[in-house]
Amino acid sequence: MCGIVGYVGAENSADVLLDGLKRLEYRGYDSAGVAVHVGGNIQIRRAVGKLRNLEKSLRESPLVGGVGIGHTRWATHGRPTEVNAHPHIAGPVAVVHNGIIENHLALRKELVAKGCTISSDTDTELVAHLVHLEVDAGKDLESAVRATLERLEGAYAIAVLSEKEPGKIVVAKHSSPLVLGVGEGATYCASDIPALLPYTNEMIFLEDGEMAVLDETVRITDREGKTIEREAQRIDWSPVMAEKAGYKHFMLKEIFEQPRALEDTLRGRLDRENGDINSDEIGLTDEDAKAIKRVIFLACGTSNHAAMTGRYLVESLARVPTLLELASEFRGRDAVVGEGDLVVAVSQSGETLDTLIAAKEAKAKGAKVLSIANVIGSAIPRMADAVFYTHAGPEIGVASTKCFSTQCANILMFSIWLGRRRGTLDENRAKELVEGLARIPQLMGDVLQGTRQLCANLARRYVNARDVLFLGRGLSYPIALEGALKLKEISYIHAEGYAAGEMKHGPIALIDSSVPVIVLAPHDSSYERSLSNLQEAKAREAQVIAIATEGDEEAREVSHDMIEIPRVLEELTPFLTVVPCQLYSYYVADFKGTDVDQPRNLAKTVTVE
Ligand code: AGP
Repeated sequence: MCGIVGYVGAENSADVLLDGLKRLEYRGYDSAGVAVHVGGNIQIRRAVGKLRNLEKSLRESPLVGGVGIGHTRWATHGRPTEVNAHPHIAGPVAVVHNGIIENHLALRKELVAKGCTISSDTDTELVAHLVHLEVDAGKDLESAVRATLERLEGAYAIAVLSEKEPGKIVVAKHSSPLVLGVGEGATYCASDIPALLPYTNEMIFLEDGEMAVLDETVRITDREGKTIEREAQRIDWSPVMAEKAGYKHFMLKEIFEQPRALEDTLRGRLDRENGDINSDEIGLTDEDAKAIKRVIFLACGTSNHAAMTGRYLVESLARVPTLLELASEFRGRDAVVGEGDLVVAVSQSGETLDTLIAAKEAKAKGAKVLSIANVIGSAIPRMADAVFYTHAGPEIGVASTKCFSTQCANILMFSIWLGRRRGTLDENRAKELVEGLARIPQLMGDVLQGTRQLCANLARRYVNARDVLFLGRGLSYPIALEGALKLKEISYIHAEGYAAGEMKHGPIALIDSSVPVIVLAPHDSSYERSLSNLQEAKAREAQVIAIATEGDEEAREVSHDMIEIPRVLEELTPFLTVVPCQLYSYYVADFKGTDVDQPRNLAKTVTVE
């Protein structure tokens, strides 16, 4: 997730672009840049880190001109360096881009073969070169961009300038957001409404497959160049509402962003035809996969719960002995680890100190380290032998939600990849899993819409509960832990996540009529036993909430309330069962009036002992 902005008008464009980028910084903040038409040339300024660094560079060396594009980056391809920062230039062309170009490896090869010098690790620079080649072949900018789009697979919102056509910006969109603004003698584009609100309330939303040329007016066309008439809409949001896209908290926004975050994470990685995972970027070879004797997952907090799904999945799909270790307990204890071990370090931030140190210790003893991280170029990916990034975009709420589900997606993809290479997962079964995974974003969207109100009602009913129990078996156990962690983090209610089979070994003593017990009982291989747990809890007069498969009358009978999720393969249930747990926790905290996005005593990234 990155932010793009563009301006054509009489003001100094660098000021408008900087101001717009400030309002888009929530979409990415590892580097930023602008390109402005100055005289007959395009000039750029780029800077690593927060926007204030770009601001400083523009103060020291201003750009004066009325047409420009800007970008704030959340790295997906290549580390957050100045060379990887947007805009990217090729000949007379400058491009900013939000999204992921899936076929970037093939395009890079092709462009290198044609003699292009590619200076960054980004997919975006390839777009700039493609447009440049078309311009060199005699096309005007609009036609050159149109021809380039034919070559792109993946998601993009792009804004393009050319020195040969100084008064205009050409934009295009597919799967990434882009809104156009129509002001008094000025036109704008941006990834999101807040960037434009101080300048205009008249906005046009570009649809997938559409392009537009911005000069004194806005002209929208389809891919064939046919003009599309669309009236501007008046948007009367306050800037704060706009930043959270109308949601009350970032956490709620991020919960609802999960289908999009998953789509971005899965994009280009599922090989549906062969039942496999495209793994070029992981950097582990087939030989590496075969040589692994043991997999050890290391993580903290929510990432540890995602890693726990890996313990089940790697064992069942790839038949490799698998351990799960809290990084804080692994480090410093001189664990037995070494050659033949693959350590999978899971961390949203990629900076968690315990995970970093634990992974370094394992590497020093001869283990290979695979990092699953969300922040490109962070410390753990940098020290790891191989990296498999999630593409959730920046997560602002301290309580992790969309990063958890994307971590689970990467872990499942890694397990399929490993199983295929080790011959433990046959093609048909892998195809089923890959197909099922491809449908998850859509199903998750359905669960979000379908369970939101019930979760809010239940949260209202139990807002004053002193204790809450979450129970689950197998792949629902990590989700029970995650549900309990979410609730305690943001509502400060004591919550326990337990392996349901352990209930009778102790926690059952906690149960009375004041305790809500949330039992995860989807149709899976533990279903019958989960049903018994529901019955046991109800018999002890607990307030029983089942999260179960739609139409499950047995579960409904033995619970007070049932939250329904669609039937999916067992390996995919975590993506759906986690949603009601997140929503329930969110609404309890909201009704209690706690600081949902910045709960007390917690930090987003824990880089201290
Ligand atoms: C999640 O809601 C937490 N705030 C926390 O447990 C977090 O998952 C943990 O600190 C690990 O962070 P990481 O994923 O950045 O390593």
